[in-house]
Amino acid sequence: MTEPLVKVQDLQVHFPIQVHFLSREKPVVHALNGVDVEIDRGDAFCLVGESGCGKTTLGRTIMGLVRPTVGEISYDGERISGLRDQALLPYRRRMQMIFQNPYASLNPRMTVQQTLEEPLRFHKSELSDAEVREHTENVMVSVGNDPGWGSRYPHEFSGGQRQRISIARALMVDPEFIVADEPVSALDVSIQAQVLNLLMKVRKERQLTYLFITHDLSVVQHFGTRVAVMYLGTVCEMTTPKTLFATPRHPYSQLLLSAIPKLGRKTFVPVKVPGEVPSPIDLPSGCVFHGRCRFANERCKSQVPELKNYSGAQVACHAVEEDRL
Ligand SMILES: Nc1ncnc2c1ncn2[C@@H]1O[C@H](COP(=O)(O)OP(=O)(O)OP(=O)(O)O)[C@@H](O)[C@H]1O
Ligand code: SF4
Ligand SMILES: [Mg+2]
Repeated sequence: MTEPLVKVQDLQVHFPIQVHFLSREKPVVHALNGVDVEIDRGDAFCLVGESGCGKTTLGRTIMGLVRPTVGEISYDGERISGLRDQALLPYRRRMQMIFQNPYASLNPRMTVQQTLEEPLRFHKSELSDAEVREHTENVMVSVGNDPGWGSRYPHEFSGGQRQRISIARALMVDPEFIVADEPVSALDVSIQAQVLNLLMKVRKERQLTYLFITHDLSVVQHFGTRVAVMYLGTVCEMTTPKTLFATPRHPYSQLLLSAIPKLGRKTFVPVKVPGEVPSPIDLPSGCVFHGRCRFANERCKSQVPELKNYSGAQVACHAVEEDRL
């Protein structure tokens, strides 16, 4: 068995929140509550789940932008969580991030050329000016951008063009692993497919590995090689998109999937999930989904289910384990 490129073990991230300075209370948001994930080289690993379930926090923690409260992250067999900034530097080149909003992620005061050169000058300072220019041109062409855009500023471009500039920026330092956090959801629907196709093309050409965060299950179906469904800071189910769409096993995955229209059906009735997502400040005991799950029993209220293997999928659910689902 080859070592996964990224291995996340029992990851917990708690964000302290401000209360009155005289208060003795020290509440925290439980953004991640014991996440185990393995991403193999070449994977397009998708993370899905409702808003606030911890997708961005997981991506940012893997990138070293958020410190884990508990747990470990390894990259290519080396533990990277807890490394100091200097020791993290080589990994910061190998791992890059693309953000949701290309309007906010590009510095409006820098030209396209400066934007693209910045990471290269930082990570490969030995390159000459001519080499930097040549590399910039090659990357711009490879993402379908006009290399003559260099002297222009981000505001001169459309959303799709800006996202292609952000992708070029991420590719400048020849990374192996890219965290793409909702990279198309801020774009016009007509442009989304173009940018997704570009991400797939560069993945193939450069043998990239992706952690792809999305709300959109059709993107998972189209793009993903593996998928993890998250709910309230935990992974409910992890498998291939094909298996998830054919036989979702976790009750939450089933509900999530029932909300998308089936091919050939003119109308669909989304299944209503009873209740609301509980607060990540006061987490429910046991399975975090128990208050909304029609299969919940006493064990579910007290014991946290672990991710276990069931031919072709890993699922964290007592009912699946007890074979009563
Ligand atoms: N810096 C922070 N301080 C306090 N709470 C935070 C912080 N960052 C995230 N959170 C909280 O952590 C939880 C997980 O947030 P996160 O942004 O990871 O969710 P998400 O799945 O990416 O949601 P979305 O789909 O809306 O982007 C949320 O309850 C959020 O409010
Ligand atoms: S562990 Fe229990 S509450 Fe949680 S999803 Fe499974 S059946 Fe429902
Ligand atoms: Mg997010």
